[in-house]
Amino acid sequence: MQSLPDKITPYSPWVAEHLPLIERDWPVLDLAAGSGRHTRLMLERGYQNITAADIDTTRLADLARRAEVTVIACDLEGAPWPFAPESFTGIIVTNYLWRPGFASLIATLRPGGVLIYETFMQGQEKLGRPRNPDFLLQPGELRRRLEPHCEIVAFREGPAPGPAMRQAIVARRLNDDTEPTV
Ligand SMILES: C[S@@+](CC[C@H](N)C(=O)[O-])C[C@H]1O[C@@H](n2cnc3c(N)ncnc32)[C@H](O)[C@@H]1O
Repeated sequence: MQSLPDKITPYSPWVAEHLPLIERDWPVLDLAAGSGRHTRLMLERGYQNITAADIDTTRLADLARRAEVTVIACDLEGAPWPFAPESFTGIIVTNYLWRPGFASLIATLRPGGVLIYETFMQGQEKLGRPRNPDFLLQPGELRRRLEPHCEIVAFREGPAPGPAMRQAIVARRLNDDTEPTV
């Protein structure tokens, strides 16, 4: 197993469990990648075409040297959205939420592609950060937002190790999906 640089949080077990749904030669986006812990996981597992995007790419510098990885510095909350529609067949999002970007996020996924998403939800504010409701999903929110455009492959919410309150989903974009408007 490849050793990780200091101060990189181990990967999410949810992502690790469901990653095999994304084929290794598909283009995959690690959105708001942070330290790139899921890009590193994908490299360990032999993924060939990974894009790691974040507004702050300082913790991705070593990954930018890998042939399999493209690092993109971008503001996901500014305009325009940095990715063309249907650019990726897999997307990973963890510990990041920006609701106005949701329709663009789904549009970035190719029909048949897989989104793996996990972040904090309501109730987390009693346990620790984040406490800002803008960063906390409401009960069932990921399912509600994705259902019109995706087959829901797996969904989980509630107390998690930490302790924390988290919500997680795996969704496959429908092949006959029309332009997302959520
Ligand atoms: C809590 S970290 C999560 C990082 C990573 N997904 C993980 O789970 O390890 C949130 C990330 O979102 C990034 N971020 C915040 N606002 C952003 C923006 N407007 N555009 C792009 N990235 C942003 C931060 O730089 C940070 O790396």
